[in-house]
Amino acid sequence: KEQKGLGDAVYCARHHINGEPFMVLLGDTVMDAPVPPAEQLQKVYARYQAPVTLLEEVDRSRVSRYGIMDGFEVEKDIFKVRDFVEKPSVDEAPSNLVVASRYILTADIFDYLAKTPPGKGNEIQLTDAMRMMVRDRAMYGCRLNGKRCDIGNKEGFVKTNIEFALKRNDMNEDLKAYIKKLAESL
Ligand code: G1P
Repeated sequence: KEQKGLGDAVYCARHHINGEPFMVLLGDTVMDAPVPPAEQLQKVYARYQAPVTLLEEVDRSRVSRYGIMDGFEVEKDIFKVRDFVEKPSVDEAPSNLVVASRYILTADIFDYLAKTPPGKGNEIQLTDAMRMMVRDRAMYGCRLNGKRCDIGNKEGFVKTNIEFALKRNDMNEDLKAYIKKLAESL
């Protein structure tokens, strides 16, 4: 009933998880990728048997909007995490690899969430719980092969809908003509 942050929202799901690994997919992002990012993460989980988060490389000027990973590449596009920091300033950011809305977590994250105090924005941050967890166990990051579309703002939502619709053979022709005509008339 209360919105206390992403970490708290995930913590609320603990009774449904049954001690099993689970995936977190943030609904304000959709992906356009040759292999679904959920599948990319599953492959890393199967190989390393450890929690894994999707990472996206962004321009350094944008790091303060995201959770940022500090780590090192162990094989192509796979990173072992050293630390996380939620929404740092450009100067404080340890890298430009951002936590990109998809995670495979293990049930032990709930032990850390239970002791995570409110952080950035006075919210209980999943990133802060993961930060505590990586001090005790291995965690990985997987660089996204594809494009992340942010639909958590009005402009991104509209643009992404148009982009996805234009990619569909059953809509492309009509929609293109409609957009052209509409744009010319305004
Ligand atoms: C949340 C997470 C952040 C992550 C981002 C991805 O932030 O706290 O670590 O990088 O999602 O979209 P929010 O978008 O809720 O501010």
